[in-house]
Amino acid sequence: MGQVKATPDNIRQAGAIIRAGGVVAFPTETVYGLGADGLNPEACARIFEIKGRPRFDPLILHECSSARAMKLFSDVPHAAKKLAARFWPGPLTLVLPKAAAVPGIVTSGLATVAVRVPSNPVALALIKAAGRPLAAPSANRFGRLSPTSAAHVRAQLGRGPDMILDGGKTAIGVESTIITFESGLPVLLRPGGLAIEEIEKVAGPVAVKKAGGAPLAPGCLAKHYAPRARLEIIERGAAVKPGAHAAYLAFSGKPAGKWGAVKVLSPSGSLREAAARLFACLHSFERKEIKIIYAESLPAHGLGRAIMDRLRRASKR
Ligand code: TXA
Ligand code: MG
Repeated sequence: MGQVKATPDNIRQAGAIIRAGGVVAFPTETVYGLGADGLNPEACARIFEIKGRPRFDPLILHECSSARAMKLFSDVPHAAKKLAARFWPGPLTLVLPKAAAVPGIVTSGLATVAVRVPSNPVALALIKAAGRPLAAPSANRFGRLSPTSAAHVRAQLGRGPDMILDGGKTAIGVESTIITFESGLPVLLRPGGLAIEEIEKVAGPVAVKKAGGAPLAPGCLAKHYAPRARLEIIERGAAVKPGAHAAYLAFSGKPAGKWGAVKVLSPSGSLREAAARLFACLHSFERKEIKIIYAESLPAHGLGRAIMDRLRRASKR
């Protein structure tokens, strides 16, 4: 079936595919997801196969309302209720003790489950059409760049999914912020599309879980979001050599010199716009002539934190 426009008819059909145990790629406000019935273990297993994803990396469940999302948890601290009330639907994932109905394949055997309510209207309509929570990781091959358009999904996964719903470019462009709770207090597992500063206004100081030890979030695999070419993070104005084999990813101003490719994340210097364009710019460097990508360091506040997190992982070989 391949890639189709996200019309009401096609969304209805996608819902039927999910109910029958199939896999559908769909847009969310962050990145495209590869969705299956989150309560059907065999359907979830196909997600891992299509992505080439190891089974120890758990999936996020997507629901169409906070009330339904909360049913997937067995215990919800006050701070989590406040965050859900303020930020759902939106780019926030909460990790809490799972309800009995959540299958082990979704959580990779963990006692906790990751859940969010996306705000993209196609995503919400699809969850409603399916009538069950969708388990959905980002719709890329494991460890590669995340997709922010249907074309990105097709380029990486081809005919793997039973359907790719094309809902245009994603608005936020980096994955959701993942928060868990320890003794009722918020702990950051992955910086993402919702700035930590926003979360702190509602729930107080957020502790940061450093990578190391058991993988907590995707993140904790140091190498992730890998472009084909080597990527090096540099300061603006650093002495790097331009050339046809080199790409330059700037924050807000073009670099001097003749480069194989240049992308400016946000001419106006907006971190929000930079996040929205990050993966599309990196995807545009996926050409065999490009052997190295120089990426400018961005301010590490607001969405800059999520961007720097993805760049740092992309720079690990
Ligand atoms: O914005 C997003 O979050 C996108 C869209 C599609 O919703 N999804 C996404 O999924 O980024 P994924 O699978 O690429 O990253 C989610 C990460 C997993 O890699 C996993 O490590 C972490 O969430 N995660 C899931 N369940 C967890 C749990 N119980 N404890 C800790 N981390 C968990
Ligand atoms: Mg991912």
